[in-house]
Formats: sequence, structure tokens, C-alpha cells
Amino acid sequence: MEHLIPLFDFSPYVGAREETLDLIRQFAAHDAFRSAQVEELELDEDFYRRPLRPEDLAFLQFKKPVRAETVSRLPSLASQRLLLSLNEVAVARLPRDGGGEAFAHFDAYYGERNQVLGARIRPFLENYAFDFAGHEAVSGITVDAYGKRLVNLIADEKVFWAELFELLQRNDYLLEGLRFILIQRWCLAPSRRVAVARAAASGFFDAVAPGDQPRLATGLSTGFAVTSPHDTLLARAAQFAGVAKQAHSYWQFYLPTSLAKCNLLYALSARPNRAFALFGAAYAAEAEALAFNSALVEACPHLLGKTEAAALVWHDAPRELSGRFQRALAQIETHYGVSALGQFGQGWGAGEKLAARARWDLGEQLRWLSRIEQYCQFAKQIALRVALECPDIDRETFIEPREMCSTTHVHNDHRLVVIESGEMIFWGNLGMQLKMNPGDMVLIPDGRLHGSTVVSDECTYHQPIIPDDWIAALSAAGGAAGNTTAHAAMAMETEIQAEMSANS
Ligand SMILES: [Fe+2]
Repeated sequence: MEHLIPLFDFSPYVGAREETLDLIRQFAAHDAFRSAQVEELELDEDFYRRPLRPEDLAFLQFKKPVRAETVSRLPSLASQRLLLSLNEVAVARLPRDGGGEAFAHFDAYYGERNQVLGARIRPFLENYAFDFAGHEAVSGITVDAYGKRLVNLIADEKVFWAELFELLQRNDYLLEGLRFILIQRWCLAPSRRVAVARAAASGFFDAVAPGDQPRLATGLSTGFAVTSPHDTLLARAAQFAGVAKQAHSYWQFYLPTSLAKCNLLYALSARPNRAFALFGAAYAAEAEALAFNSALVEACPHLLGKTEAAALVWHDAPRELSGRFQRALAQIETHYGVSALGQFGQGWGAGEKLAARARWDLGEQLRWLSRIEQYCQFAKQIALRVALECPDIDRETFIEPREMCSTTHVHNDHRLVVIESGEMIFWGNLGMQLKMNPGDMVLIPDGRLHGSTVVSDECTYHQPIIPDDWIAALSAAGGAAGNTTAHAAMAMETEIQAEMSANS
């Protein structure tokens, strides 16, 4: 297995960093990628509009590649947003109508400028963003062993969803949480499918019988409402949760780890010599989709019209997938031997790892959003400590005019937002509106996606940067005082640590 070439390796690209960074800035300077205006929190089914926060590219250095531990941070978010944008300049979405303005946007998005610049920065960004993925393949893994890993992935995903739905219910955040989840799963489904369908049409899966290939791509021809019962189910849930528009109207709410799963499929599907790796990654994506859909049926049977026939479909689906997966692997092994099986393992391992990191990222985002009032309380405790112990703590201060809107983003550290004067609306989910007045504050943990808009003539606010050990100390002190929220925060920290070490 030692002859396997890594799927991704950033080291050869380090030397080209400065010139590529310049090209990245040029690509992101296109009008389609400018930061969002206040009215663009939700985009109006505009496929050609993708706010990238190009201003961040003035300071992002792209020096150290993304690691499993840093998938939720700004360099990862910026890379994944860039990648989905440039990957989809090869996906035709026709103009909204025959008008001149619609055609001008159509031409501008797909113009040679975006095609060529995108192609030039893509290898750098892919190797930067996925350097950590795909190193898990080892020799001697049998088809049976991979079969068990498929079963385990489905099981891990199902447990995650069951626990997450339970937490959302407990925190009275089920509908809002479902909305955020469906933005990740439903709105990005067409992107995942395009990547795999294009590869299938290009012969990537010809190593196995048509009936034994991964099936993310079925029903593509009709666009979004496809593949009963999976898509009927998702479409109903999306409608119910208020996620009715087409991709990528909710662009600002995609987590970097959700984007990464699409971009991994796009990256492998652009490399014919990684066809066996794409098998692995695509099967991992199919297993994830199956686990989510079946967890959704269990969490929301009333909503989704669970019938005995539908239940049977869900009951049989993992067995069908498992059989197909093992037949595909047996054919790959028979015809192409251990090298192909090894490359399959690289793609499968990358898919498995991204799935685990995405579970962690989404779980953290929803734990935070579903208890945002408690994070306002945490902020007050921390602010008190800052005032007593460290009034000169590192902080950024912003003075912003009315309707100044920050495109959603993440920070690489824990921060408070503390309003000194004026008013702001703060959000981390579609439809969320946390009104903040002078004296109000909220804790934003490292890597949590958020944005804000100023709703007064001017707003002055501070962002003190909070050291990691203060977050832990806050939990410990609150726990000693019998503070249940602090207990919860401590449990959360423990979970993060466990998950990080399990996946690092
Ligand atoms: Fe921020």
C-alpha cells in the first residue's frame, strides 16, 4: 500500500502560495462574490450570487493546511466557499428569464475570467483544504471489513441524528434546528449529485455493474424533487421548516464541513485517476444520506406521513445499500486488485472523516444556537472577569453605520460581542434575530457561524478575545456553584475534546 499516492498533499503548493493568493484575490474580486447586503441574508434563488467576504482574503495567509481539528475555522470556511463557487462555474444553471439583466449575470458568472481563474486556484485550494483527508487506507483491509465500516458509519450517523433531534426537542429548538439541518442536507444535495453524476457519465464507475454503483445521482434530470421516497421526504421537511427556495438561496448558512463534503466529491470527480477513491467517497455520502433520511422519518413521523410501506422501504434500505456496496467492492478487487482497493479506502476514509467532523461541527452549531440565552449569560460572567482581572484584554472595536451587514463568518478564537451604543441584530440561523441593545452581550465560541446587521444610525461594539482556559474555568466555577448551564457547558467541552481526539 506504500505506493499509494496521497489523495491530497499541500506541501508541493507551499512555494506557489504568494502568486496563488494573488489569483485567489482576483477570483474573489468578481462582483458575484462581493459581501452580502442586508437584504441578501436570503438570496432570491440566484445561483450566480455567492458572497465570499473577499475582504477576509486581505489577511488570510493559506500557510498551514486545514487539519481535522480546524475544519470549522475561517481558512476552512473561506476555502470551501471559494471551492464550491469555482466548482459550480462548470454547472449550468440557466438564466431566470430572457431579460438583458438575467443574461448579463448568466454571462458574467460563466465567463472565461471565472473559468480560468477558478481552474488555476483549484488545485491549491483543494490540497490546502483536504490535506488531512484520505490518509487512512492501510493494506489488507478486506471487502468484509469495509462492509462492517459501512454498517458502522450508518449506525454512527443514526445515533448522532437521534441524539441531536432529542437535544433540539429538549431545548425547544426543533423547528429552527431542522431548518438549519435541511439547509445543510437538502440545499446542498444537488451539488453532491452533480459531482457524482458527472463522474458516472464520464466512466468513473465503469469498474462495476451499473446496478452496483453508488446512487447519489438518481433523478437528477428533474432537478430537485426527485427519487421517491428520499426526496419526497426531504422536500416535505424542507417546506415545513421554511427552506423552500432552491440552492443556493441560503448560501450564508452553509457550514464549512457541509461544503467540504460536496467539494470532496467535486475534487475526486475531476480526477479520473482517482475513480476508485470516488467510489469510496460517494458510497460514504450515500450512507450518510440514508442515515439522515431514516432518522428524519423516526424523528418526525407525523410530519412525513409515515406509512407501513414507507417504513418497510427504510427498513430495507441499509441492507440493499450494504449488498450493493459489497458487490461493487468484490468486482473492484477481482478486476483491479489491492491497488484499487487501497485507493477505494482512501476515498472511503476521507468521506468517513469528513462525515465525523461534520457531525461535530453541526452538533456544536446547534448546541450553541439552541441555548443562545445561556451564552448571553456566559458572556456576562466573562465580561465581569475581564473587568476585574484583565481590563486590557485583546479586543477589536467596531463602529458601524446603519444597515452595515456582516456576511456570515467564523472566528478562530472565542469572542464576546459587547454592545456599547446603538442596536444590532445578531444571527446564526435563517430566521434568527437576536436583538442587541447597549450593554447586551453574547459569547461566540471558536468556529461558530454568525453574522449581524446594525439597525440604529450607528453601533459601537467590542469583541474581547477570550482565552480557551477561561471558557473551561467558567464551566468549572459555575459547576461548583451548582449552575446547570455551566454543567452543560462543561459536558459540551468534554464532548468536544473526546470528539477531537477520536478524530485527530
Ligand atoms: Fe463576528
